[in-house]
Amino acid sequence: MKKLGVIFGGMSTENDVSLVSANSILKNLDKSKYEIYPIYIDKNGKWYKYLDDFNKTTYDGKVENKEIIHNIIEYLKNLDIIFPVLHGLYGEDGTIQGLFELLKIPYVGCKVLASSIGMDKAYAKIIFEKAGLKQCKYQYIRKYKENEYIYIDKNFEETRYDIATITKKISQTQKFPMFVKPSNSGSSVGISKVNNIEELKQGIINASKYDVKILIEEGIIGKEVECAVLGNEDVIASTVGQILSGNEFYTYDAKYLSQNSKTLIPADLSKEKIEEIRKLAIKAFKAIDGKGLSRVDFFVEEGTDEVYINEINTLPGFTSISMYPKLFENMGMNYQELLDRIIATV
Ligand SMILES: Nc1ncnc2c1ncn2[C@@H]1O[C@H](COP(=O)(O)OP(=O)(O)O)[C@@H](O)[C@H]1O
Ligand SMILES: [Mg+2]
Repeated sequence: MKKLGVIFGGMSTENDVSLVSANSILKNLDKSKYEIYPIYIDKNGKWYKYLDDFNKTTYDGKVENKEIIHNIIEYLKNLDIIFPVLHGLYGEDGTIQGLFELLKIPYVGCKVLASSIGMDKAYAKIIFEKAGLKQCKYQYIRKYKENEYIYIDKNFEETRYDIATITKKISQTQKFPMFVKPSNSGSSVGISKVNNIEELKQGIINASKYDVKILIEEGIIGKEVECAVLGNEDVIASTVGQILSGNEFYTYDAKYLSQNSKTLIPADLSKEKIEEIRKLAIKAFKAIDGKGLSRVDFFVEEGTDEVYINEINTLPGFTSISMYPKLFENMGMNYQELLDRIIATV
């Protein structure tokens, strides 16, 4: 039997989300195929053997029984395959993937490069542009020091401005409402929708708590849709699902807390649009040099019906009600079978 390490938790703002994803995965993995080694990383970066019963039916997001792993490298070297069920920084961004590469342990999902591109929204945009994928207008800046920011133009020329000047410059180039995002973020943490210069300033200040690189995008009005992809060279794409957000946009609360957020599978789109989006999802995955799995998110603009790529998530949410498994379930692949197929891509 293969020794499968499942790593979850992690040092990102999505530690708790990862726990819920991992709990579903641990519960559903075929125990006759894999000898499972669940590993929990806490928010401070301490690694533990996870000793709770992961078959319990309800899950409260807490880790009760755990035992510290003193020699992480030795512990990992004993494993045949690793499934990192981590979201966000230090899990989805290529850092932990780099550790697995060094140790020569096969692992599920994207390698170092694809993981870091997928995590960094500004760089993902540069690659998507090169691949000819349509996306919203955007600009990005870096925080330099208090009240001083660096504006990076399309030719990578840099200019320093104070916040008043930089917000004015941004608002002359694209229209409100805008979305301000830490470039490296997930679960909508640090993201704000802004309607005027004052809110733009506040949005930038807020985003800069999470990352020095800040992306400012023109807002798109339309449907928010997602497509799951699976495979390496022969990638398959799922059907397309739609987000019906309970809040003004798909915020952290709307994603995980609101009872009013719903998903619709398949999305309320024509067959042709769904086919177009499936092809674009595979194109985006290939463009970042993706491996294993990803969920690719888009907007379909109201009025024009144009498809805009929003982002790619290389380790998407994986609870039993998450979009990724639900999209494949809709195509007749149950959760356990999906896990086997993902692990088989390694
Ligand atoms: N350019 C945009 N136009 C309209 N809505 C947006 C735009 N960018 C982000 N949003 C909204 O904000 C949410 C979070 O943004 P996203 O880039 O997906 O970040 P995260 O990686 O945190 O999921 C999206 O799901 C969407 O509801
Ligand atoms: Mg998103």
